[in-house]
Amino acid sequence: MSVFPTRRLRRLRQSPAVRRIAAQHHLHPRELILPVFVKEGIAQPQPIASLPGVSQHPIDALPAVIEHAAAAGIGGIMLFGVPSVRDAVGSGATDPEGILNRAIRVAADAAHGRLTIQADLCLDEFTDHGHCGVLAADGSVDNDATLDLYEQMAVAQADAGAEILGLSGMMDGQVAACRAALDAAGHQDTIILAYSAKYASAFYGPFRDAVESTLEGDRRTYQLDPANGREGVQEALADIDEGADIVMVKPAGPYLDVLREVSEVSDVPTWAYQVSGEYALIEHAAAAGLIDRERAIGESLIGIRRAGAEAILTYWALEVAGWLRDGKDLT
Ligand code: PBG
Repeated sequence: MSVFPTRRLRRLRQSPAVRRIAAQHHLHPRELILPVFVKEGIAQPQPIASLPGVSQHPIDALPAVIEHAAAAGIGGIMLFGVPSVRDAVGSGATDPEGILNRAIRVAADAAHGRLTIQADLCLDEFTDHGHCGVLAADGSVDNDATLDLYEQMAVAQADAGAEILGLSGMMDGQVAACRAALDAAGHQDTIILAYSAKYASAFYGPFRDAVESTLEGDRRTYQLDPANGREGVQEALADIDEGADIVMVKPAGPYLDVLREVSEVSDVPTWAYQVSGEYALIEHAAAAGLIDRERAIGESLIGIRRAGAEAILTYWALEVAGWLRDGKDLT
């Protein structure tokens, strides 16, 4: 092995042009996915206080959002619905006229195949108790009763034109159940993105504001314990077994080890979700003058990429796609 002074690792760091050609990891706009919140009953976009720069959109504004996303060249949008009425079983989720299913139709129409239309498949935005599933008599989240509703939700979303369903509810068996329901309804081509390693995270805090969540308590009986890495890998392998087309790790930044392991063992694409709290931390720290906003955003995303994510859901998708198109380096 050659030693100093023959081996000078600083050679490849000496100038912007050298660093640029020596950079191991890159991001492309098509690898970015924008989460989009659609709220029932509003006429104007409503800024989300906890997520500076992110708004809830009226359904009529979706075509413009799609145009912007298509022009930016991003790979897709992930739709979330914010209904005006909620109930114990999340009826709005399975109703073809529910806000999310309506939004999917409008988005799919506007997209014309230029980017993928993805939808969050989970009951939490639609239940009055805010849990991701229905409750048993003792107040616990009933796994198998919830699967029946996820199956209906999957078919309703696919009927509406969603190409990729983001199964984020963390019920056991949800991928197999939705796959079978989709196939039986003639939706063999609908893609399942399994939020496989979804941790019970404090970093979802601002999102709960964005969807006006009514949750009391927490989701620790179904989302993963942050102390467990191995379990994240087990969840991903189980989902692949059940038929997941893509697996995901979420949040991203605090779980880069899980992302790396999952991406190494997975024989399907591995994605990551840079969640609301990861976004808000950087935005607020930058607003307070503590960090360089653009460099922090770039570093956070290239870190997720370096750990093994092939695509990233991020609230900065449009902005970062613009930088990349302009040839700006992320680091
Ligand atoms: C569940 C869902 C959540 C997020 C995405 N899908 C919330 C949760 O599980 O509590 C969080 C996303 C974010 O924080 O940006 N429908």
